[in-house]
Amino acid sequence: MKQEELNTLFDQQAAGYDKQWARMSPIRENLYFLLESLFAPLPAAARILSVGAGTGAELAHLARIFPGFRFTAVDPSSAMIDVCRRRAEADGFSSRCDFHVGYVDSLPAEEAYHGATCFLVSQFILDQALRQSFFRDIATRLRPGGLLASSDLASDTRSNDYAVLLPAWISTMAAAGVQPEVLERTRAAYAKDVAILPSSVVSSIIVAGGFESSVQFFQAGLMHAWISSRGRRA
Ligand SMILES: C[S@@+](CC[C@H](N)C(=O)[O-])C[C@H]1O[C@@H](n2cnc3c(N)ncnc32)[C@H](O)[C@@H]1O
Repeated sequence: MKQEELNTLFDQQAAGYDKQWARMSPIRENLYFLLESLFAPLPAAARILSVGAGTGAELAHLARIFPGFRFTAVDPSSAMIDVCRRRAEADGFSSRCDFHVGYVDSLPAEEAYHGATCFLVSQFILDQALRQSFFRDIATRLRPGGLLASSDLASDTRSNDYAVLLPAWISTMAAAGVQPEVLERTRAAYAKDVAILPSSVVSSIIVAGGFESSVQFFQAGLMHAWISSRGRRA
């Protein structure tokens, strides 16, 4: 899918996004809970870049746990950024946020951030070289030693694992109340619009994008998450 089509899709989904995925919250909350410990070593007044911020779910969690953190929320979907802004206002942390409709490469190329999140975004970049430069755009905006927490769907799609995990994942979404037509769209998208790669391959793409290390810290169904360190220059 072209990036413009993806943006249109997320613009259309923005208003109903949180409701649609609400019952998947046990997975999200688990991921965020682990993230708290991973980001705990960051400075109390850390600057965090949220790439593909969507409706601001991860921002809202981090803002509550880390009252000194400041955030830059980036997303090419203006409708998503609108929902994100409204959530930050309702939750009382909008004064700690900058909102940016666009891509990471349109932010100043400065090592400004102590940490970054990028949840369920890079999987939409099918070309591996482009996916690598997407991570490089994040890495070059992190300070030395900065941390990236990212998640994507991952699996070896030719493996028996995937043959077991895919139907289980679709059933999980059905049990969580995702509508049948959305499930059908999602299954079709996995086959052609989502780059589902083995976890070790995603890690190596992240490292090739300028990170010193990338460690998987989470898996629930097909969703995997990695903590990656920018590395400190000698
Ligand atoms: C599946 S949603 C995830 C939103 C949020 N991170 C979450 O976990 O709830 C993916 C988001 O990434 C955004 N996105 C898509 N391509 C992007 C890109 N190249 N750079 C930054 N964000 C992108 C979409 O507009 C959408 O808001």
